[in-house]
Amino acid sequence: MKKRVVILTGAGISAESGLRTFRGNDGMWEHENIEDVCTPGALRRDPKRVKDFYNFLRKGLPAHKPNAAHLALVELENRLGDEFLLVTQNVDDLHERAGSKRVLHMHGDLMKLRCMSDASHEFSFTGEETLETKCPFCGGKTRPDIVFFEEVPLYMEEIQDALRECEEFVYIGTSSVVYPAAGFKSFAKRFGAKVTCLNLEIPSYDPDTDVFIQGKATEVVPEWVKNFK
Ligand code: APR
Repeated sequence: MKKRVVILTGAGISAESGLRTFRGNDGMWEHENIEDVCTPGALRRDPKRVKDFYNFLRKGLPAHKPNAAHLALVELENRLGDEFLLVTQNVDDLHERAGSKRVLHMHGDLMKLRCMSDASHEFSFTGEETLETKCPFCGGKTRPDIVFFEEVPLYMEEIQDALRECEEFVYIGTSSVVYPAAGFKSFAKRFGAKVTCLNLEIPSYDPDTDVFIQGKATEVVPEWVKNFK
């Protein structure tokens, strides 16, 4: 179904729930090397290191709760139904715990593992992944269900179809530097969508974005949802 609105969220929407963003001051990539934990090469070289990194993030996740921005997007989804699509770059489960249903995790899902022999074998996982963890479908080796750098994000066809037809594309809490997600605004714009940005920092110039709303997600997202017509 044609979407009224496609939303893209990034780490900034979860920042006020206490989760680290990736870039900028004290961001995740200041503390970890991408090449050690988030590339196919890292998984080949040292799978234990990679799995332990995501085990640590998974274990910490329940302590963080959805915030007012996550909840506001649920309210909008309840109003729009199938005319609403939420695409997130986040691997946390805060959108789901807030109550979002129509959500695509384009960079994967911390609360899932997938099989290394057959990528269609993905399954919910809450524990600690080890080198011995096996795929429940075929007994193959597993890996975190995370899209590493150099890998192709998930659901791209479905996302592109939605962007091509949507009336409005809104990106929230993302630095818009990681492709392909960073290209969604120009893609949607080219197909006629209004493009809106809600973020703590906004660029001085961006010809693809029609409306900038600067502020903390927990403040600007509920207000934007309230005014959405
Ligand atoms: N409210 C709104 N925006 C915020 C807030 C907040 N409280 N706090 C931070 N931000 C903004 C920052 O200004 C920044 O523009 O959120 C953005 C976060 O940017 P990144 O850390 O780069 O996160 P993101 O854009 O989600 O990263 C994209 O990069 O490393 C990969 O796979 C990882 O999905 C991730 C992708």
